[in-house]
Amino acid sequence: MQMIDPAIVPKKKLYTGTEIPCVGMGTFGSDRVTPEEVAEAVAGAIRCGYRLFDCAACYGNEAQIGQVFQNAYAEGTAEREDLFIMSKVWNDMHRNVAQACKKSISDLKCGYLDLYFIHWPFPNYHAPGCDVDSRNPDSRPFSTEEFMDTYRQCEALAEEGLIRHIGISNMTIPKMDAVLPMMKIKPAAAEIEMHPAFQQRELKIYLEERNILPVGYMPIGSPRRPERDIMEEDVADLELPAVQEIAQRHGVHPAVIALKWAHQNGQLPIPFSTHHYYENLKCMTEDPLTEEEMTAIAALDCNNRLVKGHVFLWEGAKDWHDLWDEDGVIVS
Ligand SMILES: NC(=O)c1ccc[n+]([C@@H]2O[C@H](COP(=O)([O-])OP(=O)(O)OC[C@H]3O[C@@H](n4cnc5c(N)ncnc54)[C@H](OP(=O)(O)O)[C@@H]3O)[C@@H](O)[C@H]2O)c1
Repeated sequence: MQMIDPAIVPKKKLYTGTEIPCVGMGTFGSDRVTPEEVAEAVAGAIRCGYRLFDCAACYGNEAQIGQVFQNAYAEGTAEREDLFIMSKVWNDMHRNVAQACKKSISDLKCGYLDLYFIHWPFPNYHAPGCDVDSRNPDSRPFSTEEFMDTYRQCEALAEEGLIRHIGISNMTIPKMDAVLPMMKIKPAAAEIEMHPAFQQRELKIYLEERNILPVGYMPIGSPRRPERDIMEEDVADLELPAVQEIAQRHGVHPAVIALKWAHQNGQLPIPFSTHHYYENLKCMTEDPLTEEEMTAIAALDCNNRLVKGHVFLWEGAKDWHDLWDEDGVIVS
């Protein structure tokens, strides 16, 4: 088994001073990879040197992953304190965050969570594996009051010590403008979609100015994402000629270039992988992209959001753009 010493993996710092590895392992099986297969990949990833894992209740595999964590402690591969375990409260548990959090902690067999995200900023629930046209009649637009009620429950969990940091996910600038001033405990990280064809520069700068770490999901452009997130007009990041050319120059797969770019660009990427996790960690420790290569990738942004969020739309919403407040005001 090839291994990278976790000590040589570059670190990112949260506003609390906590240092975390500059890359983590995603755990969403995209409705294609079984919980057992994801857990097996997590086991391999721990052995090869990963220490940060992005989990979520709605991925349906926390119990299997928790078993892997427990085995790692028992075998002495890693202590609990060596790992940085993140999870997320799913949309149907916004009124019962403590219950959801305790279930994730129990499934993940981790005692506490290092970071707990609010997965989506509204309680709009969809069933796992649903298709793009599925709608929940209870779905409704963002409400500052409802979001803050959920966030207050996270603050209480942080005060109790069940979670060490709070995170937000799939937020927009107008929504953050509305809620950040009301928070007692600042969020440490924001998970947002980020890859070469969707760089979210304005949002990233907004987060950095507030010392909230951007965690980039789908850093490779999620080539095997669920059917509901595939649209004809989507751009395949790994097929972009500039990415392929840089990959050829470095003698690596284009996916590795997307990850190097993410790290050097300032976000923390969380690629999922069953076959390539070793190279995804190793690439952070060697052969960085040049300034010219970074500039070439910066030019590839074409605002190609992959997770459009159709399934979270409420009755009366125009289309998926309404979820993202593109005109600078909260769409309600
Ligand atoms: N907060 C949110 O709402 C949200 C939304 C979506 C995702 N996420 C998180 O972000 C994580 C990553 O997103 P994702 O899994 O959708 O997409 P991704 O990480 O962009 O892409 C994963 C795919 O890329 C392939 N891959 C990875 N490394 C590779 C390499 N070096 N060479 C070639 N292929 C490679 C994997 O194939 P192999 O398995 O064959 O290696 C897998 O099919 C998720 O797992 C989840 O934890 C969060």
